[in-house]
Amino acid sequence: MPTLASIFLLFATAVEAVSSTWPMVGWDAYRNYGFYLLRPHDITREISSYDRKNANDDGFVGTYSCLYNTTAGRCVIAEAQSPGQISSIWFTYANNSVIGVGDIQVELDGHIVLEGIVQDIVNGKKGRPFVWPLVGNVNDTSGGNVIKVPMPYQKSMKISTSNNPHFYHVYYRTFPSDVRVHTFDPKEHADDVWKAMLAFGVADPKSLSVDDFGGMSQTHMETSKTPSTLQISGSGMVDQLQIRIPEIVGAYTVTDDGRAFGKGGSSSFTMRVDPASSRCCITRRLDKTIGHQKASVTVDSQAAGQWQDSGNSENATFYDQVLELKPLFTQGKSSISVKNTFVSSDLDFNEFYYATHCIHASGEDWALTDLLNVGWNNQHDEAAHNYQIAGQTWQGLRQWYHYSGDRASQAQQSIDALDSIYIEMEFDGKQTVSQPIGSFFGVALGKSDVRSLLLSVDTFMENGAFTCWFPMPFSKSTKISLSRSGKPVSANISVNWHEDQKFQSNHCSKEWGYFSTQHRRSETTTGQLWSFLSKSGSGVAYGVTHAIRGFILPPNNTLEFLEGDFQTWYNRTSPGPFKDAAALGTGTEDFYESGWYFADAEVPPYGVTAVPYGMPLTGLTQSEFEVLDCVGECLSPLRLLIPDSLAFDDGVSMNIEHGPVGDNINAEYETTAFYYAV
Ligand SMILES: *[C@@H]1O[C@H](CO)[C@@H](O)[C@H](O)[C@H]1NC(C)=O
Ligand SMILES: *[C@@H]1O[C@H](CO)[C@@H](O)[C@H](O)[C@H]1NC(C)=O
Ligand SMILES: *[C@@H]1O[C@H](CO)[C@@H](O)[C@H](O)[C@H]1NC(C)=O
Ligand SMILES: *[C@@H]1O[C@H](CO)[C@@H](O)[C@H](O)[C@H]1NC(C)=O
Ligand SMILES: *[C@@H]1O[C@H](CO)[C@@H](O)[C@H](O)[C@H]1NC(C)=O
Ligand SMILES: *[C@@H]1O[C@H](CO)[C@@H](O)[C@H](O)[C@H]1NC(C)=O
Ligand SMILES: *[C@@H]1O[C@H](CO)[C@@H](O)[C@H](O)[C@H]1NC(C)=O
Repeated sequence: MPTLASIFLLFATAVEAVSSTWPMVGWDAYRNYGFYLLRPHDITREISSYDRKNANDDGFVGTYSCLYNTTAGRCVIAEAQSPGQISSIWFTYANNSVIGVGDIQVELDGHIVLEGIVQDIVNGKKGRPFVWPLVGNVNDTSGGNVIKVPMPYQKSMKISTSNNPHFYHVYYRTFPSDVRVHTFDPKEHADDVWKAMLAFGVADPKSLSVDDFGGMSQTHMETSKTPSTLQISGSGMVDQLQIRIPEIVGAYTVTDDGRAFGKGGSSSFTMRVDPASSRCCITRRLDKTIGHQKASVTVDSQAAGQWQDSGNSENATFYDQVLELKPLFTQGKSSISVKNTFVSSDLDFNEFYYATHCIHASGEDWALTDLLNVGWNNQHDEAAHNYQIAGQTWQGLRQWYHYSGDRASQAQQSIDALDSIYIEMEFDGKQTVSQPIGSFFGVALGKSDVRSLLLSVDTFMENGAFTCWFPMPFSKSTKISLSRSGKPVSANISVNWHEDQKFQSNHCSKEWGYFSTQHRRSETTTGQLWSFLSKSGSGVAYGVTHAIRGFILPPNNTLEFLEGDFQTWYNRTSPGPFKDAAALGTGTEDFYESGWYFADAEVPPYGVTAVPYGMPLTGLTQSEFEVLDCVGECLSPLRLLIPDSLAFDDGVSMNIEHGPVGDNINAEYETTAFYYAV
């Protein structure tokens, strides 16, 4: 009988060369995107500082934060013996620093592969491959600290810290014993992966080359011929799904941090553009309560225009100002360097976000080509774009700002449309997706900016695209449609797909699964876990989007449902005994790799201060309070599990608690779980 590993080797080598005999190991998870491959006996576990009595002592004082202490006095937080991989490490300590954890040592197969002060590592000081966005600190995640470099090992793994780390989690996998892996080598920088990661939310990470907006070779582009239905015949994989629904406008409130300059300017920031475009433009999000802001713009050191007088507004108002560039500034270029110089203003010139869009030579729509989020929570994004500011007069937060114009009723209609417009997908005649479009893209609370490796929502352009980069294989046919109460909606669907014969016949042997989702929306029930995913049989889960509609008002703790922990069981479809869980976490925002109720590092952690953030694998897309149909505090986080995806052989029950003990605090929850199954 062939071993499991050799079956995979056969499947893999029969059709294409893959770098590893077992799927999704090490950097391969971000190169080959073999999401659809089933992985029998590949078990992802989460070990954390969770309360062993299933109460709420999850790390505040570190009761359960050391599995044991070594004779040298180090605190061991994770340990395993078998082939496997460390997939995710997360800490939160203070709301603005992780200094308290001290240093970390990661030992694989008897060798130390990572050693240093945790704060330095999450700040990116260790250097490649431990750089943003593969690591992130409290400012990047609104309260958490993450190390997302996958680290495989053949025999053993041990992670220790010098101090009691308080809150932490480690996701790791154990592979079948006959799987051979290359132990993680920190000298391998995987620059290709890093570059693809840097384009998160903008370009298909599967195409790897961020300069190539045409996509992969042999790519077919198809656009819906009849409104809101698209069909493909053949055998292959959808790489990109893009949807435009003109009736849906941006969310009503937006919270963002930014900067302003007086005499001076912001300079030399690099933005990607499409070399094969006929037109490109830059969009700037600004605070319009500062009146009459003007600045001149150079592109690659040549005068390219002006940010014209933006007018003013007495109320808390954001405004997106667009500057179209003459073709000579972008044609044939894959990036441009932008400089803004102060001209005049009632006070100063502010900037919160920059986006670039281009219209491809053969296209008609403005396509997003880059994003730069300005502000102290985005210092790594600023550095990655080489953004600099001179004569800074302000840095800070604009909370619950509105966009100008009468958007309230339109925004509420859009929230309703995000709920009533269904996306349906059929692969080889089997329907695996049928749910509201809003929850699918992580924007059930309103069309907000989504910037992640596999899901993206563009709000910086009218009719900006909803984009999904989950790979979607099929043997014979695919059908994707949008409808409302069974009727077509006015929308465009387009996909990039490529032919791949390996999907033609192998499905019957159950080596890969179809892209699928499970969606739920209801009030949570006291005493019952919230189920993200309940599925029998075999498959692999890749993450969730979550909309929380809270209805608790101050002075009560408006966010107390967030005390609920992630809890997952395999080999069953409903929650089992606590002791049998494979993943046990410490809190809801901790599952989303943030911390302290999504606290911003600059404002008190309790109350209504959550600031949206985006990392490739985690983010918070909206945070609002008592606006439109949001009764209390409403939040929409998301988490993608890639190296730490949850493979299951005989069922999975993936859940989140709500409240500190016994699921005792309720809210309305809406979630979409993404998975692949036969
Ligand atoms: C290990 O040492 C830490 C202090 O660094 C202490 O807080 C913790 O209780 C100890 N844990 C065990 C299991 O001895
Ligand atoms: C500003 O907001 C207040 C309160 O919401 C409203 O009454 C007023 O009309 C607004 N002013 C403008 C210029 O929009
Ligand atoms: C977060 O940003 C603030 C404001 O710029 C800065 O003072 C602080 O050092 C940053 N924190 C980290 C961990 O980099
Ligand atoms: C669909 O795209 C075509 C071509 O870009 C455009 O003419 C049409 O208006 C679009 N329809 C909708 C509903 O967006
Ligand atoms: C706060 O919680 C208490 C106890 O559950 C409840 O009686 C009260 O109505 C709540 N207050 C508000 C403002 O929600
Ligand atoms: C699931 O059940 C199988 C067969 O009994 C067992 O080998 C495997 O270890 C179980 N998985 C987990 C995560 O408990
Ligand atoms: C951090 O939390 C403490 C209380 O736990 C609070 O007093 C303080 O304002 C917070 N600091 C920051 C910078 O958010």
